[in-house]
Amino acid sequence: MTEIVRLPIERWDSPCSLQDQTTAITALESGNVVLLPQLDFPLRDNERDFYFLSTGAEVKGKNISLSPGDNTVRGSSADVAELGVLRDMMVRFSAVSQGLVQRLLPSYTATLEQGRTSFRPLEVAGRPSSWRKDDSRLHVDSFPSSPTRGKRILRLFSNVNPVGQGRTWRLGEPFEQVARRYQSSLQGQPWGSSQILEMLGITKGQRSAYDHYMLQLHDRMKADGDYQASAEQFTFAFPPGSSWLVYTDQVSHAAMGGRLAFEQTFYLPVSGMQDPAKSPLRVLERLMGRELV
Ligand code: SIN
Ligand code: FE
Repeated sequence: MTEIVRLPIERWDSPCSLQDQTTAITALESGNVVLLPQLDFPLRDNERDFYFLSTGAEVKGKNISLSPGDNTVRGSSADVAELGVLRDMMVRFSAVSQGLVQRLLPSYTATLEQGRTSFRPLEVAGRPSSWRKDDSRLHVDSFPSSPTRGKRILRLFSNVNPVGQGRTWRLGEPFEQVARRYQSSLQGQPWGSSQILEMLGITKGQRSAYDHYMLQLHDRMKADGDYQASAEQFTFAFPPGSSWLVYTDQVSHAAMGGRLAFEQTFYLPVSGMQDPAKSPLRVLERLMGRELV
């Protein structure tokens, strides 16, 4: 079962010991969560005001995102002044995240790509949604419009809740167990469909067989009420003022409660891993007996 591996890192910019680096990379690639209980993302006074006053009315969807590269903020209807505060705060989270990952996982630096940053101000519990988008059901991450073609999805979260509220997750069984459970129900990819999806602009880039199977795993898990109730799992509340790293394409997870968190996504090619055999791509290829990208 997934373990929570704690590291006593207190600062975003301090060097990480070789021992912490080894512990982190091994834990993450083995499908565990690396929790940094003392690593708080400090907010500035004007940002804190923004938070406390925030009713969530300025959030259009589940979260507010910052695109890497051009720093465009999406998902917020905040006015120009608030948008500036929001952007600065998210740019800062993206920068400290990048620095931390470079120091904690230095062997990834050469191939790691920084993806979107997100700010999640709204309460997770009781949020209405379709079953497919319902992240309070156990799932592995896979997104219909963004094929990864095998690249890993590594995410760094920080719970910045100012009133002592944890961010509660359920964590489930290892990836290979999930894959074996649903393997016989996975359907092949219709011939030519990946080209059509890309041509129609439904996917950014071509959906590989790997993405096709990962999406089905995501959906099968979420749609299966018995599985949600009876799968091996435990509940864990990430404390306010803590940060954690996790491969969300591998670790079965469900967000059950909490508000006010940041998240930074990174993508890593399988070849950049310490042990590529542990990737969902290689696990699925081994189970299916063929290449999937
Ligand atoms: C998810 O990745 O399913 C949601 C995690 C969260 O927002 O806490
Ligand atoms: Fe998820």
